Amino acid sequence: MRSETTVIREKTAADDAACAALLRRVHARDGYPLFLPPEDVAGFLRPESERIAWVAEHDGGIVGHVALHCPPEDPTLSAASTATGLPPDRLALLARLFTAPEVRRAGLGRALLRHATGHAPLLGRRAVLDVGMSLPKAVALYESEGWSRAGELHIPLDEGPMLDLWVYVSP
Ligand SMILES: CC(C)(COP(=O)(O)OP(=O)(O)OC[C@H]1O[C@@H](n2cnc3c(N)ncnc32)[C@H](O)[C@@H]1OP(=O)(O)O)[C@@H](O)C(=O)NCCC(=O)NCCS
Repeated sequence: MRSETTVIREKTAADDAACAALLRRVHARDGYPLFLPPEDVAGFLRPESERIAWVAEHDGGIVGHVALHCPPEDPTLSAASTATGLPPDRLALLARLFTAPEVRRAGLGRALLRHATGHAPLLGRRAVLDVGMSLPKAVALYESEGWSRAGELHIPLDEGPMLDLWVYVSP
């Protein structure tokens, strides 16, 4: 995406601190991620399974983030594999999508979603994702882009309540 001053580009290590700061603001406002101790933000944004990630930059600041993850095993990939008939190694998890509160509803979330979804075939994979059932804005975005609900997961956490997720597959 390239609007007047907003660019989507590949994330580098130099972006990590700004991404973590943005995620903390998103967490405070939207409750995403659903369950995450603040000290785990950096690890949440740089898991080993991250294959590629992008940031949206506006006037020198980070205003959005999205990634593709390719973990060796994952309950969402298993559910999506059953739904699509594709093996898990032909799927990529679209993850960590968020935009800055001050730029919302201007098309950036959709642009980041399309960017990552469009990249998955370049990895020989189809994009799938999971989303918290308590995140209706994100669910509305995915469904407006033609993603299909393919299942649900209820994952007990070590601490806190159950993680209730919808699984979606890209068109
Ligand atoms: C979900 C999120 C990424 C959308 O970002 P955004 O920059 O506002 O997205 P867009 O402007 O491209 O909006 C795209 C669509 O999302 C849906 N949407 C976004 N905000 C919405 C809201 N407040 N109410 C209802 N639908 C909403 C709409 O379908 C919207 O399309 P429209 O504006 O044409 O009606 C953003 O709200 C966010 O970061 N939320 C917190 C993090 C999160 O929940 N991430 C998902 C993890 S699975």
